[in-house]
Amino acid sequence: MSQSAFAHISRDQLPALVQAMPKAELHMHIEGSLEPELIFALAQRNGVTLSYPTVEDLRKAYAFTDLQSFLDIYYAGASVLLKEQDFHDMAWAYFLKAKEDNVVHAELFFDPQTHTDRGVPFEVVIKGLHSACVRAREELGVSSELIMCFLRHLSEEAAFETLEQSLPYRDLFIGVGLDSSERGHPPEKFARVFARCKELGLRLVAHAGEEGPAQYIIDALDILKVERIDHGVRCLEDADLVKRLAAERMALTVCPLSNIKLCVFKTMKEHNLKTLLQHGLAVTVNSDDPAYFGGYMNQNFLALLADLDLNAQDAYTLARNSFEASFVSDAVKAGWIAQLDQTFASFAASAPKA
Ligand code: ADE
Ligand code: ZN
Repeated sequence: MSQSAFAHISRDQLPALVQAMPKAELHMHIEGSLEPELIFALAQRNGVTLSYPTVEDLRKAYAFTDLQSFLDIYYAGASVLLKEQDFHDMAWAYFLKAKEDNVVHAELFFDPQTHTDRGVPFEVVIKGLHSACVRAREELGVSSELIMCFLRHLSEEAAFETLEQSLPYRDLFIGVGLDSSERGHPPEKFARVFARCKELGLRLVAHAGEEGPAQYIIDALDILKVERIDHGVRCLEDADLVKRLAAERMALTVCPLSNIKLCVFKTMKEHNLKTLLQHGLAVTVNSDDPAYFGGYMNQNFLALLADLDLNAQDAYTLARNSFEASFVSDAVKAGWIAQLDQTFASFAASAPKA
């Protein structure tokens, strides 16, 4: 779409435009969509005792100071997931939210080690998630794929074991990622695991530059050979890296509300997303762990509109980037981009002409 097509869209129209525009979500941990109410319901269903007496008490504990303080609660929350139906119900609840936000495609992270280490078989996890993905396509028209993450605070050996357990289900997930505590767990720790995953034809992504330094982004690219960087907001600390990311059109899956909740930036006004866009980077907007960070996809967009002075062109670029950076075929991407263009064209047509 040409720049001039956006000129008449006013600030007042932006919230409705953000709601109406189709978009893809590329950075969402399915365990991070577990709302406190569902945690309590599953705990009761499975006879699990929680250390918080009420939903309100649990919610009050969501005052994080950094990534680790969040991860401690996030792993505790996931302890209520025991049966295939639990994983299905969790993912289904996310898909209902995605549909409300006009997310037409989601590439979802899951953390098998969080479950297999508690004795829940890999098969239980992936079958429950997969059946929810199939149902979302059939009943909601939302498409999705699964990306298996290795927990970087665990060993290389544990990651290889998880990869081995996953191979009978190879056709149920499209790629691998790397998440959990970033500092002190550099990309090179998983060089051999990622090399094996590449040989297996898996798509590769990794969290880098969330709390860790810009060098971890460089290493994720050069050593792990990733195709997207999850977060990546600390890239601005290295001007050469910024130039490289722009030249390679390397997507950054940025998660604004997460970055504020985990104190990567003090306030949304200080978030660097607009600057990243101004550098020509392939930025996308995502919700990371929406049940913990105060909102799903559109709430992330609304927070950016409120505090970072985003305009219609920015909203278009962010949504378009989400499709371009997704792991679907070029033909499918083109279909969604055409829908996006149509949404913007109809808003431009109805905008008051000055
Ligand atoms: N696991 C879930 N959310 C995460 C995040 N924001 N960073 C690293 N690991 C995570
Ligand atoms: Zn994440």
